[in-house]
Amino acid sequence: MQMNYICIVTLLCLIFLDGTSSYGVPNKETACQRELRIYQQEPNVPGRRIPVCDTLGNYAHKQCSGSQCYCVLKNGTHIPGFSVNNWEAEQQTCYCAREQAEYQATGLIGKMFRCTIDGSYDSIQCTGPYCYCADQHGKQIGESSVHITEMNSLNCIIGKETACQRELRIYQQEPNVPGRRIPVCDSIGNYAHKQCSGSQCYCVLKNGTHIPGFYVNVWEAEQQTCYCAREQAEYEATRLVGKMFRCTNDGSYDSIQCTGSHCYCADQHGKQIGESSVHITKMDSLNC
Ligand SMILES: *[C@@H]1O[C@H](CO)[C@@H](O)[C@H](O)[C@H]1NC(C)=O
Ligand SMILES: *[C@@H]1O[C@H](CO)[C@@H](O)[C@H](O)[C@H]1NC(C)=O
Repeated sequence: MQMNYICIVTLLCLIFLDGTSSYGVPNKETACQRELRIYQQEPNVPGRRIPVCDTLGNYAHKQCSGSQCYCVLKNGTHIPGFSVNNWEAEQQTCYCAREQAEYQATGLIGKMFRCTIDGSYDSIQCTGPYCYCADQHGKQIGESSVHITEMNSLNCIIGKETACQRELRIYQQEPNVPGRRIPVCDSIGNYAHKQCSGSQCYCVLKNGTHIPGFYVNVWEAEQQTCYCAREQAEYEATRLVGKMFRCTNDGSYDSIQCTGSHCYCADQHGKQIGESSVHITKMDSLNC
């Protein structure tokens, strides 16, 4: 008895809430379905778009008319700012544009949406001060995240390989080409700091570009980290000045690093070990 009651209530609610119910009740046409029916009855009216409806009868996120594709709300209303030419719209999802618009309509604030110009989710999304690689629905891929100030260090892959992964794949397909290096990629697909080819090891930027001046022979490269070389190069690219890098000739951090006029012993990442420091003029007194 109880179960029957719940069942009847549920059925009534389904019929009441959802015009597309299949319980013998005639379907109520949605705005999109209506526009589509009218289009199909008379398709050749110039400028009339072909509406695209989703399975629930709402307007699909992306609509195209003429040469433009753009993003719409569920009820078909345009979301300003995300129109692109239809020959550039293949990857356009409009998921970000719509979800951002729906979020803004709730009056809530604080959630950050990084939409591309076509209204898709950017491959980097952030929550609070942390940023990560995201899929087409804006959901985090994997577990690594970086502070927002280091967002540009993320090298996110959306259905395609990074340059390093591509070079590695090509190498693996055909390893015996003379002079071809074995690229080393890090866990997020960037080039590792140190690469070796032939008898030389050297330091590279994340995108694989050589950093001049830090070549060593393979047999002398065991301790080579290239951390100093890359961080110095990245720092110089920001055009900031004032930070001092003491790199060894293989691009590793020297065991003595200085900040301003103070010098101290440092680890392989250039971070101070312990608390003692000396004036730069007494640097040689450090026994690191
Ligand atoms: C569609 O929904 C938006 C937001 O809910 C509303 O502002 C707009 O007037 C609606 N448009 C139509 C055609 O119903
Ligand atoms: C790698 O990055 C550097 C600095 O950001 C840039 O100058 C260089 O052109 C890039 N190289 C490639 C192959 O993308």
